[in-house]
Amino acid sequence: MSNIIFATQNRHKISEVQSILGERHTIVSPEQLGFVGEIPEEELTLEGNALQKARFIHSMFNLPCFADDTGLEVKALNGAPGVYSARYAGEGKNSEDNIAKLLGELLDKDNREARFRCVIAYIDGSVTEHLFEGIVNGKILFEKQGDEGFGYDSVFSPEGFEISFAQMSLIEKNLISHRGRAVSKFVDYLMCELN
Ligand code: IMP
Repeated sequence: MSNIIFATQNRHKISEVQSILGERHTIVSPEQLGFVGEIPEEELTLEGNALQKARFIHSMFNLPCFADDTGLEVKALNGAPGVYSARYAGEGKNSEDNIAKLLGELLDKDNREARFRCVIAYIDGSVTEHLFEGIVNGKILFEKQGDEGFGYDSVFSPEGFEISFAQMSLIEKNLISHRGRAVSKFVDYLMCELN
């Protein structure tokens, strides 16, 4: 069993990813290692942000480390909010504000197609950095449905389902979600690395 740092302060994400990684790898958060500051994410792409977060925490603790960055890409909004998903309604605003802005922007739009895209960056201590991508297509609902999850979960319904991510269990969400898919690729890589 080995420890890997997940460069995030989001406890929802930590439980989601730990449940996929299984017992072979234990996720350690920066907070558990004594770091409670902000992890910078100032790049203009998901790839750039994931790498920036992983490099920042890796340079601090020199242990294998990964980070993810996720964007909600809405077709009728030309891919917005994308890399700005966390601060769509402005700095210091929360998920409720972001959802309210999103539903407002879509009021006069017929096309509600959207996708979540997640990029994981992994630094294992060697010179190589690795990127893994996961995508889930779906649509934006007209109003919030469900109480599970976080972020935009309550207004995103994945393709093939009539319910939102916030109406699914963690196991159901992980099986089809952007992060679940990116983490599966990451786990496959870790398995090959160990063998
Ligand atoms: P980040 O990857 O933490 O930067 O996420 C960017 C934004 O997307 C934040 O507002 C999150 O709440 C939202 N987000 C990330 N992952 C998910 C998810 O699995 N479901 C819903 N919203 C998410």
